[in-house]
Amino acid sequence: MTLLKLDVFSLRNIHSASIQPAAGINFIIGANASGKSSLLEAIFILGRARSFRTHHIKQAIGFDQTPLIVSAQLRHHTGDISNLGIQIDNKQSEIRIDQENRQKADLAYALPVQLIHPKSYLLLDAGPQHRREFLDWGIFNHNRNFLPNWRRYGKALQQRNALLKTRQTNQLAAWDRELAEYGYWINRFRNEYIDLLQPAFLQLAGHFLDTSLVELRYSAGWDERQTLDQCLKADIEKDLRYGFTHSGPHRADFLTFHNNKLVRDYLSRGQQKLLVLALLLSQVDLLNQGGQNNCCILIDDLTAELDAANRAKLLKYLASLGCQVFMTSTDLTDFGDLNSVGNYKVFHVEQGHISPI
Ligand SMILES: Nc1ncnc2c1ncn2[C@@H]1O[C@H](COP(=O)(O)OP(=O)(O)OP(=O)(O)O)[C@@H](O)[C@H]1O
Ligand SMILES: [Mg+2]
Repeated sequence: MTLLKLDVFSLRNIHSASIQPAAGINFIIGANASGKSSLLEAIFILGRARSFRTHHIKQAIGFDQTPLIVSAQLRHHTGDISNLGIQIDNKQSEIRIDQENRQKADLAYALPVQLIHPKSYLLLDAGPQHRREFLDWGIFNHNRNFLPNWRRYGKALQQRNALLKTRQTNQLAAWDRELAEYGYWINRFRNEYIDLLQPAFLQLAGHFLDTSLVELRYSAGWDERQTLDQCLKADIEKDLRYGFTHSGPHRADFLTFHNNKLVRDYLSRGQQKLLVLALLLSQVDLLNQGGQNNCCILIDDLTAELDAANRAKLLKYLASLGCQVFMTSTDLTDFGDLNSVGNYKVFHVEQGHISPI
């Protein structure tokens, strides 16, 4: 898919902006605090209905408090055109696709966006929640059966935890059955996805780090020598004592190894950033399989991420990918030699105004 036209209103310091991006790479340049990250945030909000900078999306609404609106005309890989929009005010958010009210998930299916930014290395470093979100976004796009199972699992888990807290053990068995069933499917989807991701990740790690010794090791979130149902029954005393469910896909994780050593304890910060880049781009690779350029890539603050040689490698890779890319930096020279990039545009941002160069 390609964004043909993007309109942004009242998002941080961007009062009103309208751009017609290139189908290839869009370089966004401007001084600090000019609004570059805000432009990427706008595209991210349009694809994920949340912000990458704050848990409270309302904080992105401009200080004058007029509703935040991001809308776009989008061409799908089939050639069909769609109009997407999201409006957020202090009370609610409203999503429209081709003049109809829709859900967040519809938006996410229409515009998959992958973000690479200075905090992306947290994928390896921070808690397992980040890695589950990473996996689940990939699976969500890969298999439409994932979302209903994931929602039902979440609901069953909430109910079970509420019963544990109030010690209503007589109803637990019914929720255990639900958890075991939907948990089985979530785990299966995740295992299948890791198997697909692994070769793409290996290839990209080879490209960026010149190594073939990386490996992803997934853990289901319970002792897999038993079924989830058996684990839930075995855990019951512990679960009642603490008031929450200890075993299940909500405790899953994956760890990244290089040469059988845990990457986060062993590789340099720069190498970790490159591995995270490889992980994030391997998801894009899966989305693009079958020749569908199905993902929009956002790269914020490139200079903070990589040295000149690695920036050149990344640019070459992105130029060959055929995806639509938006990348920011303070200076055009930070991006390196643009001669090898076929299809690109440069936009200058100044005090929230965006103009093509
Ligand atoms: N809700 C808001 N309303 C209006 N302005 C805001 C809001 N939130 C943040 N800002 C301001 O918007 C400006 C643009 O921020 P942004 O992060 O997009 O800049 P940037 O170009 O990415 O800068 P840098 O190069 O430092 O990363 C900043 O001055 C910021 O303080
Ligand atoms: Mg920024």
